[in-house]
Amino acid sequence: MILPIYVYGEPVLRKTAEEVDVQGTDWKPLVADMFETMYHANGVGLAAPQIGKAIRLFVIDSEPFQEAFPNAQIFKGAFINPVITEEWGEDFVFAEGCLSLPHINEDVTRKSQIHIEYYDENGNFHEEDHSGIVARIIQHEYDHLDGKVFVDHLSPIKKMVLKRQLNDIACGKTRADYKTVHKK
Ligand code: NI
Repeated sequence: MILPIYVYGEPVLRKTAEEVDVQGTDWKPLVADMFETMYHANGVGLAAPQIGKAIRLFVIDSEPFQEAFPNAQIFKGAFINPVITEEWGEDFVFAEGCLSLPHINEDVTRKSQIHIEYYDENGNFHEEDHSGIVARIIQHEYDHLDGKVFVDHLSPIKKMVLKRQLNDIACGKTRADYKTVHKK
């Protein structure tokens, strides 16, 4: 089922998301809906707060970046109760976008390598290192679980320049080519 995407200005995007009971719930249906919603909107990642749920869960699929980053391994997966325990390596600058911030793309600098621990939708625990574009998608989605969006990383001047665009998103003036939830 394709779910509507909550955009910038919606309070759920600013909440610190709660950990979930991994084993006590069947997360597969929600994960399937989130992948379907993400693919429909041509995204490479989608976090639960973006579909209105303040829980620590996100999905990613880096496949669309295969051409731009031919040496990167394609990674698809669901991350439940993830914890990034370490970030290191060189600063990596990349123009990010977000389904909750339609039509905005800005350079964000982040570390190039991460270590992450999480559960998948089958309740299996994983502990992995990721780098480059896959690390980047994970870092972006992980921010959503802490009530952050990528424009929070920009300089005050850059944010000022984007102010009107952000306001337009928040009041529903900016149209996305997928269904969104925003203030009237
Ligand atoms: Ni995002």
